[in-house]
Amino acid sequence: MKQSIKKAAVIGSGVMGSGIAAHLANVGIPTLLLDIVPNKLTDEEEKKGLTLSDKVVRNRIVQSSLQKLLKQKPAPLTTKSNLQLIEAGNLEDDIEKLKDCDWIIEVIVENLEVKKSLFEKVDQYRKLGSIVSSNTSGISVEAMSEGRSEDFQKNFLGTHFFNPPRYLKLLEVIPTKNTDPAVVSFIKEFGENVLGKGIVLAKDTPNFIANRIGTYGLLVTVKEMLEGGYSVGEVDSVTGPLIGRPKSATFRTLDVVGLDTFIHVAKNVYDKVEGAEKEVFDVPSFMKTMQQNGWLGSKSGQGFYLKQGKEILELDPETLQYGPRKKLKTAAVEMSKQAKGYSNKLKALVYADDRAGNLLWSILAPVLSYSANLLGEIADDIVAIDEAMKWGFGWEYGPFETWDAIGIEDSVLKMKQDGITVPAWIDEMLEKGYRSFYQKDNGVTSFYHNGEYKAKEVNKKVVHLKTISETKGVIKKNSGANLIDLGDDVALLEFRSPNNAIGLDILQMINYAVDEVDKNYKGLVIGNQGKNFCVGANLAMILMEAQDDNFYELDMVVRMFQQAMMKIKYSNKPVVAAPFGMTLGGGTEVSLPAAKIQASSETYMGLVEVGVGLIPGGGGNKELYLKHLNSMPKELDFDLQKVANKVFETIATAKVSTSAHEARDLHFLNEKDSVSFNGDHLIHDAKQAALNLFEAGYTAPVRQKIPVTGETGYATMLLGAYNMHYSGYISDHDLNIAKKLANVIAGGKVAYGTLVDEQYLLDIEREAFLSLLGEPKTQQRMQHMLVKGKPLRN
Ligand code: NAI
Repeated sequence: MKQSIKKAAVIGSGVMGSGIAAHLANVGIPTLLLDIVPNKLTDEEEKKGLTLSDKVVRNRIVQSSLQKLLKQKPAPLTTKSNLQLIEAGNLEDDIEKLKDCDWIIEVIVENLEVKKSLFEKVDQYRKLGSIVSSNTSGISVEAMSEGRSEDFQKNFLGTHFFNPPRYLKLLEVIPTKNTDPAVVSFIKEFGENVLGKGIVLAKDTPNFIANRIGTYGLLVTVKEMLEGGYSVGEVDSVTGPLIGRPKSATFRTLDVVGLDTFIHVAKNVYDKVEGAEKEVFDVPSFMKTMQQNGWLGSKSGQGFYLKQGKEILELDPETLQYGPRKKLKTAAVEMSKQAKGYSNKLKALVYADDRAGNLLWSILAPVLSYSANLLGEIADDIVAIDEAMKWGFGWEYGPFETWDAIGIEDSVLKMKQDGITVPAWIDEMLEKGYRSFYQKDNGVTSFYHNGEYKAKEVNKKVVHLKTISETKGVIKKNSGANLIDLGDDVALLEFRSPNNAIGLDILQMINYAVDEVDKNYKGLVIGNQGKNFCVGANLAMILMEAQDDNFYELDMVVRMFQQAMMKIKYSNKPVVAAPFGMTLGGGTEVSLPAAKIQASSETYMGLVEVGVGLIPGGGGNKELYLKHLNSMPKELDFDLQKVANKVFETIATAKVSTSAHEARDLHFLNEKDSVSFNGDHLIHDAKQAALNLFEAGYTAPVRQKIPVTGETGYATMLLGAYNMHYSGYISDHDLNIAKKLANVIAGGKVAYGTLVDEQYLLDIEREAFLSLLGEPKTQQRMQHMLVKGKPLRN
């Protein structure tokens, strides 16, 4: 059994190879990235008098891939400095370095012979026991290892990452009959715990699970579009969020993937299967023409869509001309939007006899039956298929969950009427009286498998808050939050308001939760499993009060906010905040005073109040300043002003981290805080963190006096702001906000180095917040944000 991956190698630095190397670097693994040596000089190299034996030329391919990594969006690296963990090299001069690597991942061109000859070389240089894997999209994994040594074959498997590797959750693991089961278990664990992936075990068949079903589904959709005379935009308008699929729906997804990649993947199955299935994988001719024309999607500037100025046009597959984008609006679509719950929404569509209903039925039914027909061939159970589609294609529900939602009995009947083949095992299941693929009983989920229900494996690290509150109930509940018992004497405060925005209900729950935990629990986690951790305070409520001139009430509300944050900070029991996704404004303010932040690696954190004409009002200015201050080396005489400047800059420019790693660079996180690479483990990790703090004898922090920069600090901080104002980069109102902010961070009109009280800082913060709230331009900004969802510059 392998203990760890101390060093990895990625061979092939193209789209996927560089992305995989970046992801390994993100989790802290030094990675060797190799590619071929170019056989020709570029004009530029010739001009410089370089030859093919110069290192810069020999490493050119990898070096240019690394440069691309820095520019790519969304960013493959969680922070640019991770690039230092990637060592560039080439397959001739650096191949010997493979002997130091514990895992070697092949990510080169999709060609069996080329891959085989690379593995022959790898076999010579690798150390015994090192893991070797291929990222192939669909070539037989076993065929690639033919002729290799026994040790190689024992340690060889497929590890199929999805593009982009940092962001897409799915990692398909494909063992061969020779792979040592211990290697499979290790990669599964490593993939889940260290790389943060959702692991699905797939069989060694063309395109494995997600791409086999996903490509089939996309091609069925294209064919139904052509036969039914639908337009590209019409199809996308009903194959996205309406049915629990990503916003990019069908054709935007294809544009993002790239038509060349898609056609390549489809052809791989086409070449390897027979019968009716083969026909589906035969890509319609208009798509082949698009490929010939170079209309590959986003990477070539046009595909199924073309952006012209501000307008997005759709392609007409018949004429290959672009025209205005259409949407499908039918009674069924409206009914579905009105219906409550996924099952009712979907039923309203697929059983409706109108243009939307007919389209959705005729694209969903074949995918469901296809998935059922492939069970056993591509995967061992329905869970693997559902998870692969959710993690690889961003579907909210997998095929079998979707099937449960529309009702198996009715849909099978309709499928049979339509001549769609339903495998015998589903008929048997219905004959036995079973009516769903999944069953939920007292928090335990089981799934239909070989004639009976089998309990789904419980992963202790994946906590489902919904299941806990449904089965165990909640300790307390109000309109915006739940207090839940997580077990092992840890409680969790869950935001449940729209967008998880913080209002009075959440503040009340914070007060209650801290007291309750003090009496009866070992620790408190503040976390949730919504789309984002928290997008800030409830702006609508604040704006309404401000427009009604209710400043007395507003003062009370801001005081309450500040006190609730202080309550978190001075709790006798450890409070652990578990942010993820967007963690803005109030969301950051709630996290900062916690004893510890356990952040998801994908945390986008920032104090963004200036965007709505405000400054943080819940103690965020002080807490960020303190967090930065406390991370300074105690024994050294450091420059207080630098700390103030940095905090001022972060808040004044509304900086938002693009990862937890960057949040650390911005001092939202410090050395006490931790990061979870697997977002699904976040609540579990936060709970463990609370327990660890408790066991270590946690006590509330001692109140400290805070050194501030005072009047000189204020002037220094504003220097830059004045410059920007003179040069026209920021408005009068921006400058006005900057002044208020600088005054709060400087600690008001005191001398440099004065020690002040926390409450004093909160008071000047509240005063500044309320005075900005009274400004018409601030109110305009808030209004604009609420209506348009983006900041107004005034
Ligand atoms: P790519 O074309 O971007 O990169 C291929 C890399 O292989 C290039 O850097 C090239 O210089 C290198 N290469 C070419 N010939 C070589 C040789 N003889 N020896 C060593 N290196 C050589 O391709 P991409 O898209 O990164 O795909 C790589 C692998 O990942 C393929 O097996 C592909 O099927 C698979 N894959 C691709 C996905 C995608 O979305 N692009 C998704 C998942 C898997």
